[in-house]
Amino acid sequence: MDEPLIRARALTKTFRRPDKGPGLAGSARHLITRKYTEHHAIDGIDLDVAAGEAVAYVGRNGAGKSTTVKLLTGILVPSSGEVRVAGVVPHQDRIANARNIGVVFGQRTQLWWDLPVRETFTLLRDMYRIPPERYRATLARLTEVLDLGPLLPVTGRKLSLGQRMRADLAAALLHEPPIVYLDEPTIGLDIEVKDRVREFLRDLVANGTTVLLTTHDLGDIEDVCRRIVIVDGGRIIHDGPLAAVRDELARERSMHVQPAVPVDLAAIRAALPGTEVSGEPGEFSIRFDRFAYSAGQVAAAVMGLAEIRDFRIDEPGIEDVVRRVYEGGLVESPTGAPA
Ligand SMILES: Nc1ncnc2c1ncn2[C@@H]1O[C@H](COP(=O)(O)OP(=O)(O)OP(=O)(O)O)[C@@H](O)[C@H]1O
Ligand SMILES: [Mg+2]
Repeated sequence: MDEPLIRARALTKTFRRPDKGPGLAGSARHLITRKYTEHHAIDGIDLDVAAGEAVAYVGRNGAGKSTTVKLLTGILVPSSGEVRVAGVVPHQDRIANARNIGVVFGQRTQLWWDLPVRETFTLLRDMYRIPPERYRATLARLTEVLDLGPLLPVTGRKLSLGQRMRADLAAALLHEPPIVYLDEPTIGLDIEVKDRVREFLRDLVANGTTVLLTTHDLGDIEDVCRRIVIVDGGRIIHDGPLAAVRDELARERSMHVQPAVPVDLAAIRAALPGTEVSGEPGEFSIRFDRFAYSAGQVAAAVMGLAEIRDFRIDEPGIEDVVRRVYEGGLVESPTGAPA
C-alpha cells in the first residue's frame, strides 16, 4: 500500500515551562536547579492524510492545532513519535519539505514588510528556483483569481488585512506545492473577502491539492472539506466525514432570550422538557433539538411565562462540535493504527 501523503504516528510535542520558584535573589537563582512543568501540546497524534484530501483540523483555543501544523512544516521538532510528509521528515529536511508544502498562518505574514508585494514574490521565485515561464504563468493565474493586480506595487505594511491575506495565499502557492496548510486563513476578514478566500480554497481542492485547514469558523470548512479531525488537549478526539457532523449539528439550535423582567429558569425547564436551559433569570439560553421542538414552540413556551424583550437563535459553531463529541453525540471513528 502506498504511504499516505501526510503520516504522523504517536506524535508528541512537549513544551517545558519554567516554574515560578520562590523569590530568590538574582545571583542565587542559578545555583538551584530550575524546575519545569511539562506541557503536552501534542500528546500522541496518529494522522493519515491521502493525496487530494481536504481535512478540517479543528478544536478549541490551545488544543494543539498550530503546533501540529508547525510539526508538519518542520518549524518545530517533535518530542517523540514520527512524522513524514511526502516521504520527507519535515524537521530533518526542512528545505526538501518546503518544496512540497505551502503554508499560511492567518495570524502572521510571510510578506516582506518594506517591499512591494511583487518583490516578495520575486524573492520567493528565486528561493524556490521556480523556472521563469512557470512563475509568470502561476503569478498570472493567482493574480487573476485573487485580484492581486492593484496590490503588487504596494508594500506589505500598507496592505489591509484582507489584501494581506490574499497576497499571503499567493505567496504560499507560487511554487505550486501539492500540500497546503492553512492555519486560520480567514481570521478577521469581512464576509466578502472570506467568501472569496473560501471559493479560492474550493478551487484549490478541486484541482487536487491536499489541504489541511485549521479554523474556528465552521463556514470555512463546509464547502472545502469532506473530513473533519477534532483535536483537544493535544489528542485527536474525532475523525470522520464532515457530513455526519453536519447532520448532527443541524439538529441543534440555541435560543438566547432577554425577558422584560427576570423569570424563574426552573419554570422554563419544566415547560420545555428535554432542553438545556442555562444562564441567569435576566438573560438565558435554551438549547434544543430541532426535531423535538420547533423554534416557534420554544418561543411560545417562553412567552407563556414571560414577556420577551429580545431573542436570537444561534447556529452551532466549532465549540459546539467539540462539546458534542465529549457528550458522545457523535460516533467516533479514529484514524486507527498503521495499516
Ligand atoms: N512555543 C511554545 N512554548 C510553550 N508552550 C507553547 C508554545 N507553543 C504553544 N504552546 C502551548 O501549546 C498548546 C497548544 O498551542 P497551539 O498554538 O497549538 O493551540 P491552537 O490549537 O493552535 O490554539 P488557537 O485556536 O488558540 O490557535 C497551548 O497550551 C500553548 O500554550
Ligand atoms: Mg492556533
